[in-house]
Amino acid sequence: MSNEYAIQVDDVHFSYPDGHKVLKGASCNIRYGEKVALIGPNGAGKSTFMSLLNGVALATEGRVVISGKEVKKDNLKEIRRQVGIVFQDPDDQLFCPTVFDDVAFGPLNLGLPRHEIEARVSEALDTVGLNGFETRSSFHLSFGERKRLAMATVLSYQPDILVFDEPSTNMDPLNRRKLIQWLTNSDKTILLCTHDLDIALDVCDRCLVLADGHFVADGKASEILYDRKLLEVNHLELPLALMTHELLHEKLSSGKMDAEHKRIIASFLHAHRHSHGPEGHEHVHIHFHPHEHQHMHGDVSSQHVHESFKVTAIGKQVVKGEPHSDHHHHDDGHTHSHDEGHDHHTHDTPGRE
Ligand SMILES: Nc1ncnc2c1ncn2[C@@H]1O[C@H](COP(=O)(O)OP(=O)(O)O)[C@@H](O)[C@H]1O
Ligand SMILES: [Mg+2]
Repeated sequence: MSNEYAIQVDDVHFSYPDGHKVLKGASCNIRYGEKVALIGPNGAGKSTFMSLLNGVALATEGRVVISGKEVKKDNLKEIRRQVGIVFQDPDDQLFCPTVFDDVAFGPLNLGLPRHEIEARVSEALDTVGLNGFETRSSFHLSFGERKRLAMATVLSYQPDILVFDEPSTNMDPLNRRKLIQWLTNSDKTILLCTHDLDIALDVCDRCLVLADGHFVADGKASEILYDRKLLEVNHLELPLALMTHELLHEKLSSGKMDAEHKRIIASFLHAHRHSHGPEGHEHVHIHFHPHEHQHMHGDVSSQHVHESFKVTAIGKQVVKGEPHSDHHHHDDGHTHSHDEGHDHHTHDTPGRE
């Protein structure tokens, strides 16, 4: 068996004991290090599909293969070391009296020495912003805190494949940003099930759409998440960032506004996808931060030159990197100069290029 893929799913069927058929021939292969968004309407079977990946449920037909090993009753321990699932409901995952114990549970099971366990707990809690919570009772945390704690209980045993079921639900904006940052920087194989298509767009290279018991689309996230028709047919909608962008473009091209409104909208349209790299991480994500710049509205696309930068921490610190020239054009017909001391960045316009 080839070991090329982290996850191989071949023609999987799954029915619940009550006879409800959820998966009817789902197939996909995920390579090591890929970050894949899993989207689909409510009840499509996303959570069910995820539970097959570490044998919480077993396929009724077909095969699920993790790093070359088929998921079977007799190898679940080994499979679960490799595949960590952060479930939708944190209460499925928390069962110890304290935060420390919950996060230490995985590494303890791996038989790691005490100092290593402590280091891993500390690192995992740090990642989810819960350091200092070690002695608190897991059950007395707020729902959003329990979601983050559930994530820490999986991160602490460092599985190669991470599966997240709706991780951003109930997260406040700062923790959502931290989650995006962590996911973006991670070099693990990641499957991310989410209704937050902005996160999917930010983090994932690839996107699977689950509907009618199988994958109805599998391709580049930047194509699928821009495909209004495909999303609508499957009861999904464009990421908010793209909708806003489209709306503003429409407004701008309608011509029915005064110069001040034009200036504001063009400024927002300037808040778009950024590429960070080559150090740290490479990804595109969308910032909405209006900033002052000069522009001219012409009827032809314009080109401009500015500098690249690298982000060391999202929302915290922006460090200017090696300057290089980069030409872009905008179809909203404005030029701008970056001379007001705000973040310098490379950008392109989502859905427009
Ligand atoms: N334990 C269960 N027994 C019977 N049906 C279930 C069970 N769990 C989920 N289902 C049904 O299976 C379908 C898929 O559920 P789920 O995988 O949770 O969907 P999703 O995560 O895409 O919203 C739904 O129709 C749901 O009602
Ligand atoms: Mg679900």
